[in-house]
Amino acid sequence: MLIEWTEAFNLGVERMDATHREFVVQLNALAEAPDASLLSGLDSFIDHTVEHFGQEERWMQRTSFPPLHCHAEEHEGVLRIMREVRGFVQSGRIDLGRILVRELAPWFSNHAATMDAMLAHFLKENGIDPDTLPQQDA
Ligand SMILES: [Fe+2]
Ligand SMILES: [Fe+2]
Repeated sequence: MLIEWTEAFNLGVERMDATHREFVVQLNALAEAPDASLLSGLDSFIDHTVEHFGQEERWMQRTSFPPLHCHAEEHEGVLRIMREVRGFVQSGRIDLGRILVRELAPWFSNHAATMDAMLAHFLKENGIDPDTLPQQDA
């Protein structure tokens, strides 16, 4: 298994933790995927990550979370790399896809422990349940 779910990943915001569990499950599945299904696996993983990051960014916008830009920029950078590598995998560079998958594990551990943890702390401290935030801009 590439990355094991540990107690430390639970940040106490239910919706965020559920999304992160899906992220870990999908990343592990990707690590086990045969070469022939790496590209399609990457596509669904990228779709899930777009939702995952978009959800956090929406919460940050709706709550005027101070370090919004820093956090969103890191999301953007990771998604850019994922899409770039996806293009390489499509042209046959499976090896680069494997490196991406492997490197996403330590990236996630670090991102969850820092940026996501700060956001979770902010939401809890202010008594905000993200499920009650408006889905659309007013
Ligand atoms: Fe996250
Ligand atoms: Fe994040």
